[in-house]
Amino acid sequence: MNRVYILSMRVRNLVVLLIALSLVGALVLFAADVKAPTKALVFKGKPKDVPFDHTSHVKAAGGKCAPCHEAGGKGLFPQKFDQAALKFKGGAMHKTAVDAKSSCAACHHPNPEMKGAFEVKGSCGKCHSVAAS
Ligand code: HEC
Ligand code: HEC
Ligand code: HEC
Repeated sequence: MNRVYILSMRVRNLVVLLIALSLVGALVLFAADVKAPTKALVFKGKPKDVPFDHTSHVKAAGGKCAPCHEAGGKGLFPQKFDQAALKFKGGAMHKTAVDAKSSCAACHHPNPEMKGAFEVKGSCGKCHSVAAS
């Protein structure tokens, strides 16, 4: 075996290794693709708890996650269950959030841009619908 032959074998092994590594990388990225929960997330509330259903919300948002989970953590909500991060408190009528059009009231406010998003006033029971656990 001459030196040139051995060198070209090394190059070939290196290329094969790089292709294998990029395939593994693509698989890892694919596995990290986040799926929306199919079961409602339940937030503690008074007098009843509040279920949040991803299926109907994602459909209403045209299949997109961005309206609520904009990339870079700038979104309305974190992509994890964390009631403290919701920040929809502020009086029994959610007045602070409704006035600021923040948290759930980014959509649930009078004259919503997003069709079907009822306003908070007069709709307490639409959200506070399950017995406190
Ligand atoms: C209308 C708003 C909205 C849309 C649209 C939305 N989400 Fe969410 N998502 C939420 C809220 C609210 C939470 C809970 C945040 C909290 O607890 O502070 C959440 C939490 C999550 C969680 C964490 C669940 C857990 O149990 O920890 C995942 C995963 C998630 N969302 C994925 C997605 C994906 C994927 C999409 C798009 C297909 C999507 N979401 C679209 C509002 C939304
Ligand atoms: C991006 C806009 C948007 C945000 C943010 C949003 N909603 Fe909604 N929500 C909608 C729309 C639109 C509907 C009507 C969906 C339908 O039933 O066709 C809806 C419907 C609902 C319903 C009725 C049952 C259902 O799931 O269809 C409940 C309950 C609800 N939202 C609770 C919440 C809570 C709690 C939050 C905050 C954690 C929230 N929503 C944030 C747009 C939004
Ligand atoms: C769009 C859904 C939605 C509607 C409509 C809604 N709530 Fe809530 N409510 C929630 C969520 C979610 C929480 C938990 C908020 C948090 O922990 O940040 C909550 C928490 C509460 C709490 C306990 C926390 C606090 O602020 O003291 C009270 C009281 C309450 N809601 C009363 C009401 C009343 C009264 C109405 C009707 C005027 C109403 N809610 C309408 C979703 C809703």
